[in-house]
Amino acid sequence: MHQVILGIETSCDETSAAIVTQKEGSIQIVSNIIASSALLQAKYGGVIPDQAAREQLKSIIPVITEALDQAKLKPTDLDAIAITQGPGLIGSLLIGVETAKAFSLIWDKPLIPINHLIGHFYANWIDQTPPQFPCIGLLVSGGHTDIILFKDHGVYEYLGGTRDDAAGECFDKSARLLGLPYPGGPQIATRSKTGDPKKFPLPLPMADSGDLDFSFSGLKTAVANLVQNRQLSDREVSDIAASLQESICQILVKKTILAAKSNDIEQIIVSGGVAANQRLQEVFRQHLPSNIQLFIPPPNLCTDNAAPIAAAAFFHQPTNPLDIQANPNLSLNQWKKLPPTLLSGIILRL
Ligand code: KG4
Ligand code: ZN
Repeated sequence: MHQVILGIETSCDETSAAIVTQKEGSIQIVSNIIASSALLQAKYGGVIPDQAAREQLKSIIPVITEALDQAKLKPTDLDAIAITQGPGLIGSLLIGVETAKAFSLIWDKPLIPINHLIGHFYANWIDQTPPQFPCIGLLVSGGHTDIILFKDHGVYEYLGGTRDDAAGECFDKSARLLGLPYPGGPQIATRSKTGDPKKFPLPLPMADSGDLDFSFSGLKTAVANLVQNRQLSDREVSDIAASLQESICQILVKKTILAAKSNDIEQIIVSGGVAANQRLQEVFRQHLPSNIQLFIPPPNLCTDNAAPIAAAAFFHQPTNPLDIQANPNLSLNQWKKLPPTLLSGIILRL
């Protein structure tokens, strides 16, 4: 029996709707539509929350309609709707959450709220043999850098995270200092291909601290110091980009492997926009002990999109739509830790 979920993601500047199915334990994408206002935001060097929310409002209905059309499905074919509840920008979240609540009530479908941070990880459950619990999760996005111990669906423990800037934020802010457009991560990755990471060696903050925390704001300051009062050549911009990428990747890999080793865990799952970075994957493969298996989603599933949100919903519980509120500050700790439940169980009870 197929189970079909419509996922909706509107936490920042992407409006996305995806139809995902689960058949015999395997999760597959039927359609995945993304409308991004990133090009518009790029004009201003970053996301302007009000503008992002207005773009969400324009795109939400066309994107949901397109996801259903491409999947050749009608609302009556859906088993449930999954929605990103938070964290994110309040204006953007509200558009998705209120739309999902309305459709849930009109179409009489269960609504499953998903924490965006946890949702990212479920890109690793799509189109492949899924990871086994327990596993170590590294979340590296624009606003978060966290290491968690995943014990089961909905059961996890926070092990460490950034004390200041997130890894993606460090990419974005440093790119801006280097005169590269928003979003900076992909720009730094492209420039790094032709840069020499040894020309401007940058520090590895907290790499040897022995704990599982990170600090990236010092790296950004180091880039600012290099840039200060200098007219950088194109070549120098690429060299600094390569050095920055190298430092961030080395630190992320070192701490994540330390987390796995010190907790005796043999699987690592990586997620979030920065996981799209190819050098990160290379550094992981260089340092990975032979007994540890690595899961990194394909780049298009790492950045914000609704497919992982829908995939996560197969393993989480629905809530009364009228009780779901967009929560811009939702954290890993606040999120309800529910016992694992498969959607088949949920549908039977509703
Ligand atoms: O997960 P995401 O799409 O949105 C958030 O939830 O924040 O992550 C966005 C972040 C941005 O900081 C962006 O610069 C970074 O992911 N990013 C990358 C790459 N692609 C996106 N960073 C490094 N290399 C990339 N290829
Ligand atoms: Zn995200």
